[in-house]
Amino acid sequence: MLSIVGLHYNPKYWDKPHAFRPERFLGEYNRDAFFPFAAGPRACMGRRFSEIEALTLLANLVLNYKFSGTKLHTSETPEQVAARVLGWRMGPITLHPAKASFTFIKRES
Ligand code: HEM
Repeated sequence: MLSIVGLHYNPKYWDKPHAFRPERFLGEYNRDAFFPFAAGPRACMGRRFSEIEALTLLANLVLNYKFSGTKLHTSETPEQVAARVLGWRMGPITLHPAKASFTFIKRES
């Protein structure tokens, strides 16, 4: 049995595995070490559905709202802001942001 969490946070395959760096997927990465929907005959049946649903959700948010991130406090360095905003903690099933504050502003239609 393969541990998906163990694989996805393994420093042998991922540089700084706990850092939130989505751009790591823009270039070359080890596709054999990325296994969120499992593989083979018992792989996730909902994969395409959930990928399209996630894209649709993000596209609708960007279409309808402007995002304003956490303001830089004068005493904080950009690295401290990144650590505060991108910090994570373990939820019941997945990891999730510890304290990512955003303001959503509805776009004029
Ligand atoms: C981000 C969303 C999702 C992730 C990360 C995910 C991940 C997975 C994984 C890892 C498995 C294999 C579990 C195992 O080996 O025991 C699985 C199985 C499965 N998933 Fe998903 N899933 C997601 C969404 C969905 C959705 C939306 C549906 C249905 C609409 C779905 C339906 C299924 C089914 C039916 C199986 C069992 C396949 C089988 O055993 O033949 N999943 N999923």
